[in-house]
Formats: sequence, C-alpha cells, structure tokens
Amino acid sequence: MNTKRKVVLVGTGFVGMSMAYSLLNQGGVDELVLVDIDKEKTIGEEMDLSHGLPYAPHKMEIKAGDYKDCKNANIVVITAGVTQKPGQSRLELQKTNAKIVKDITKNIMENGFNGIFIVASNPVDLMTYVVSETSGMPRTKVIGTGTVLDTARLRYLIAEYLEVSSKNVHAYILGEHGDSSLVPWEHCYVGCKKLMDVMKDNNHPMEDLKKIHDGVWQAAYEIIEKKKATYYGIGMALNRLVKAVLNDENAILTVSAYLEHQYEQDGIYIGVPAIINKNGVKELLELKLNKEDQEKFNYSCEIMKSNIKEHIKSILEE
Ligand code: LAC
Repeated sequence: MNTKRKVVLVGTGFVGMSMAYSLLNQGGVDELVLVDIDKEKTIGEEMDLSHGLPYAPHKMEIKAGDYKDCKNANIVVITAGVTQKPGQSRLELQKTNAKIVKDITKNIMENGFNGIFIVASNPVDLMTYVVSETSGMPRTKVIGTGTVLDTARLRYLIAEYLEVSSKNVHAYILGEHGDSSLVPWEHCYVGCKKLMDVMKDNNHPMEDLKKIHDGVWQAAYEIIEKKKATYYGIGMALNRLVKAVLNDENAILTVSAYLEHQYEQDGIYIGVPAIINKNGVKELLELKLNKEDQEKFNYSCEIMKSNIKEHIKSILEE
C-alpha cells in the first residue's frame, strides 16, 4: 500500500462522478482513478474534473485508468451497474447487477487489490455480498453503503420537523437499503435528549414518526419520478465513507456489514451501525431492539436471505 491516499472508482456514471466531484471540492484524496467499461467516458470525466482543480481547495491527481491501478489503492469504490427506472425497486436490478459486479470484482482481485471495498451498486446489500463472496477478502474489508444515505435522509427529515440542526440528530436506519428498512425509534436522540421525549414534551403526534420514515424509504422513488435518478445524496454518503476509512476515523456509520450472530442473524450483509476505520469495519454496534423492531429487522434479513438463495447463489456459482 503506498503512502498516497489513492481511491479507484469503478463506474463513472452519475453516482460515481457525484462522489468524485465532492472529493474534488472537499479534498482529502491524493489520487483518484476513474475506471469504466466506457473508456472514452473516463477520459472525458477526467478532463472535465481536472479543469476544476485550479479552483479546488487541494490538489488531487485525477486519472482515467484501468484495473491495474487497483494494485496499490487504499479503496476501490464500485458504483457500476444499471439503476432504478421510475417505479422499479432496487431488488429488480439484482440479477443484472450481480453479474456486472462479480465480473468487476474478479478484475480487481486479478490485479492484486488488497485494500477496502466500498460498494454502492444496487441492491447494495446483495451486491456487497457478491463482492465479498467473489473477492474472498475478509468480510470486514468489504463494506456497502447500506443505510448510510437512508440515515442521512432520516436525520434531515427529523431536523426539518423539529427545526433543529441535522448535525444534532442521532438517529439510525437499520436493515435493507430499501423498502423493508426500519428505525429503532427508542435509540434516536436529539442532542442528548431522547427523540421520544422530545415528541412527547412538544405534543408532537407519534404517528408523525411513521410519516418521516415513509419519507425516507420512498425518497428514491420520488426523486427518480421527478429527475430520473438519484446521485448527490449517495455521492456524499460515499464521500463520507471514503473519508472514514482514509482518515482512520472510527466513525459510526450504518453501512451494509456482514452479520455473524449479531442481531440474531448470520451470513448476510445488511445495514447496521458499525465503527469504520482504515481497516474497514472495526466492530458492529449491536442495539437492544424491542420485540417489534427485532421482528422488522428479521423480516428485512429474510428478504436478503431469500434473494441470495433464489438468485445470487446461482450467479456466484456460474
Ligand atoms: C438511493 C439510491 C442510492 O436511495 O439507492 O438514492
């Protein structure tokens, strides 16, 4: 591993390039390599991004590259794959994207990568499983964006509702990055005060919390209806994850992480709070879920298990 902070991005579509653009504006990465099946596009993106460097806060070497560049990279970010069309669920993308992501992972591993995988291709929990199984890397070195974006949406909506800074809303989405996610409301805080107490003390109806969660899991459908795709939110979520790894932050983020008996579950990737540092997942934070939330979490996990069994396994065995 070189001393430079090197990130390889595989997939230069809107999601990947939104992350790239945020890295250019925030700094913190010494070398960013763009890889895509469309080589011409990587050259165009490299040129376009590089022309912003004179006005960027820090220098960043930007390259149109290929899988050979993965060898000494700290992180490889995978965003490649087809994206949701209006009304389409993320799970409907799994067969197409599993084949794409498996092939990409093989190319990356054949070029000697030994860093941290960050996966955003959807459905991300299943695609992270594909990367993990295909690469054979330690499970903790393969991270999915999971519900990092859902958690940001939740914090934003709670902050708007309570008129407080989203930076002081400590709330987490667990489960699938998708329709079956859940909010363990009793573990949510506004500053140092329980969210449930804030709701009670201000006579806010509790059913408003369900509306807020509905706003989270329906957000992507709504955005895609209006602008055909989502990319700024996930781009910032990817930036956050890249920084947590590169800066060895031990930051708590709800990534798609591999469960081994945590939360009464085993053998899948799904969104849970985890401590993220230069080695990937340092530790999972296991919340004590009440009966209702545990049942919701189990349901979300069952969706992952059944799709792995019905669709993903056969693609991995091809
Ligand atoms: C979304 C995509 C990243 O939720 O799944 O916007």
